[in-house]
Amino acid sequence: MTTVRSNGQRKRVFIRTYGCQMNVYDSDRMADVLRPLGYALAPAPDQADLVVLNTCHIREHASEKVYSELGRMRDLKVERRAEGRDLTIAVAGCVAQAEGEEIAKRQPAVDIVVGPQAYHRLPQLLAEAERKTAILKAGKRLPGAGVLDTDFPAESKFDHLPAPQGVRAGSAFLSIQEGCDKFCTFCVVPYTRGAEYSRPAAKVLSEARQLVAAGAIEITLLGQNVNAYHGEAEDGSTWSLARLIHALAEIEGVARLRYTTSHPRDMDDDLIAAHGEVPQLVPYLHLPVQSGSDRILEAMNRRHGRDLFLDIVDRLRTARPDLALSSDFIVGFPGESDRDFDDTMGLVEQVGFASAFSFKYSRRPGTPGAAMDDQVPETVKSARLHALQALLGDQARAFNASKVGQTVPVLFAEPGRRPGQLIGKTPWLQSVYADGDPRLIGSIVEARLVEGHANSLAGEIVTGSYGVAA
Ligand code: 5AD
Ligand code: SF4
Repeated sequence: MTTVRSNGQRKRVFIRTYGCQMNVYDSDRMADVLRPLGYALAPAPDQADLVVLNTCHIREHASEKVYSELGRMRDLKVERRAEGRDLTIAVAGCVAQAEGEEIAKRQPAVDIVVGPQAYHRLPQLLAEAERKTAILKAGKRLPGAGVLDTDFPAESKFDHLPAPQGVRAGSAFLSIQEGCDKFCTFCVVPYTRGAEYSRPAAKVLSEARQLVAAGAIEITLLGQNVNAYHGEAEDGSTWSLARLIHALAEIEGVARLRYTTSHPRDMDDDLIAAHGEVPQLVPYLHLPVQSGSDRILEAMNRRHGRDLFLDIVDRLRTARPDLALSSDFIVGFPGESDRDFDDTMGLVEQVGFASAFSFKYSRRPGTPGAAMDDQVPETVKSARLHALQALLGDQARAFNASKVGQTVPVLFAEPGRRPGQLIGKTPWLQSVYADGDPRLIGSIVEARLVEGHANSLAGEIVTGSYGVAA
């Protein structure tokens, strides 16, 4: 495969990531796969030889965005060809998995469609696309090469992906579990990401050690159903997420551990206890509940009721009194009545969330919810979302305000917009703006929180506190 341009420069890849943190992790791994082929990262599509759109299929809006972006990439490709150069267009992620061949039909300029389980095969796919493009050029036909790989291979992609390379600003994602067997009736994930799979514990631990060696002090464990983790250990036993967290916390240099996304059904006793036992485990948990109505939870096939969720919250707060909660909500699921929605509002009031994501139900083709009667009108969904977001917004502001006056450890991640300003995260995942030396990026520093806003806090770095842990 050619890895240098005709002018002798290295080839460049631009990767655009949509959707969840799993995609952010996967995009990094795709960059890792492409690096040995000579691909450096490009800051924008117009400076790239290869563009990868790592897509999200969770809601209609997310997948439609991809097609408009593909239209822009096609225009860029046409411009390039007029100059006698190529642009390879690849679609990765969940839209690739779910819509496969349809993508190439809707946008013939696409060269490669690669599903989330096949990223380790990108080098072969690129070589094949290059070969096909050469044939098309010889025949003076120039659509995209149309190479497709959306199989769920028997081998695990994790065994074939290279070790993670760089760590950005002290914080790293580590994918430990993928796929989902829960089949919530609104959700495409079991179809796009496939059956639940847990990476073996030893592989996770060795990747964590590599990340720490590369500068990570915070590790976020990722999985679509991360707390369903059941990885094989070297002695043949099976480790739960709690067991894995205890082992990860033993690694010298790990100051913070997070995990996301969890399902209430898999919050077992050991995991709840770990929140009180493992100091590195941050006092913050994203635990999607989706609805506060038993009737709707049942229709969603969530396999738990409102009471189980409230009970978990109580037990978590007993184990770790300063634990803050975040969640996901869907309004307007088929059949949701005003009363059901009131139950959701009531649950939010009862729990009090530090932050949350809320969405209007989006009908996803192929999921049971899409075929249900009683779809809720858009206007009703909008009104409910508005009311819910107002309440959740108030709670987020109140939570941020409650931290004002406290001195907390902040992991600084990047420069702020103002010169001299840094942006970091508290253990509760709040963004903090503070003036500080850019050399503090990638370390945890004590900052006094002086002002709370809807989505962030202003802080002042406490001098002499550099290099504190946790
Ligand atoms: N419509 C709206 N929101 C959805 N989510 C998943 N599927 C849908 C859908 N069809 C939301 C859920 C999930 C989050 C990642 O996205 O709240 O937790
Ligand atoms: Fe989707 Fe439900 Fe699985 Fe979460 S648990 S990924 S919402 S099917």
